[in-house]
Amino acid sequence: KKSVKDVELKGKRVFCRVDFNVPMKDGQVTDETRIRAALPTIEYLTNQGAKVILASHLGRPKGSVVEELRLTPVAKRLSELLGKEVKKADEAYGDSVKAMVDTLSEGDVLLLENVRFYPGEEKNDSELAKAFAELADVYVNDAFGAAHRAHASTEGIAHHLPAVSGLLMEKELDVLGKALSNPERPFTAIIGGAKVKDKIGVIENLLEKVDNLIIGGGLAYTFVKAQGHEVGKSLLEEDKIELAKSFMEKAKEKGVNFYMPVDVVVADDFSEEANIKTVAIEEIPSDWEALDIGPKTREIYSDVIQNSKLVIWNGPMGVFELKKFAGGTRAVAEALAEANDTYSVIGGGDSAAAVEKFHLADRMSHISTGGGASLEFMEGKALPGVVALNDK
Ligand code: 3PG
Repeated sequence: KKSVKDVELKGKRVFCRVDFNVPMKDGQVTDETRIRAALPTIEYLTNQGAKVILASHLGRPKGSVVEELRLTPVAKRLSELLGKEVKKADEAYGDSVKAMVDTLSEGDVLLLENVRFYPGEEKNDSELAKAFAELADVYVNDAFGAAHRAHASTEGIAHHLPAVSGLLMEKELDVLGKALSNPERPFTAIIGGAKVKDKIGVIENLLEKVDNLIIGGGLAYTFVKAQGHEVGKSLLEEDKIELAKSFMEKAKEKGVNFYMPVDVVVADDFSEEANIKTVAIEEIPSDWEALDIGPKTREIYSDVIQNSKLVIWNGPMGVFELKKFAGGTRAVAEALAEANDTYSVIGGGDSAAAVEKFHLADRMSHISTGGGASLEFMEGKALPGVVALNDK
């Protein structure tokens, strides 16, 4: 695949798709990780003398204008981070935008309005893709976080312009790609989060590759049930118990060490005020729900992490948003931070948020900017936004 480094950029109008889908509160960006992650590409483009046209989605406005989802606050923050003016368009294509593009000098940056204000974006409408393409000479896709979406600004446009990957896109594909195709061993995957349903593909794919599979979070209790234990009021997907059993059998066949909680923190209520206690996994009381892995489990998981050369982590070990149930997720994050010999890949979404929350982000080897995208990548799926590059 061609990268932004392989094309001539001086004086060129570059349509650069980024993922500025950032959390906001009261018109302020509350987590700017994704904006920072796009800076190397934007700075590369401006340094090369390109006229930079940035495009992103924000939230899910479903094809119409939602005032709170305008990208204006993002333009402001980006401008501060870049240390230069960022122009902001109120539309994402059309005559008014063309006129603004015409005013750009080499090295200037323009941010278009939220591309999801138009119904054609998510439909991957070819007319909209062409309208985007008309603004520019080159297409750069740096939106790894949105690469699993086949939308007009992530996929369609690539069929109408020379299309290359940005530096963040390249780095994400490189790190995740190497991890899955040529992993250093022992290779451990930590899979957590609420639902088995959301992690079926990733467990299936990783069982073929890892030496150790660690299970935690709400989804663990379907496995616990599959092992023959009662789980009280813990999360349980009845219709996935057989599947959980088959995963455990598959692990055995493949010689993959399969780690499950041996103790848990149970609560009589899903709240910070709940009464809690630690119990062995076979002793979850019928009226209580397990909301975190227990101290013995944390120790076992930390040991496995410390003895791994590569760890991929996707999904928290408990309800880390509540202090009382954050200990397990924190223990895993700390073990990763302390394992100096271990390459740690944090697969976006909640695990990235957890690492951020515990102020351990700078001690991880790679934190993916993709939630859904990194999950689909780990499932072994092709990402449409990547496949479309270099089509022309
Ligand atoms: C994300 O936040 O995972 C990406 O920006 C994609 O957003 P979406 O799930 O709304 O398509």
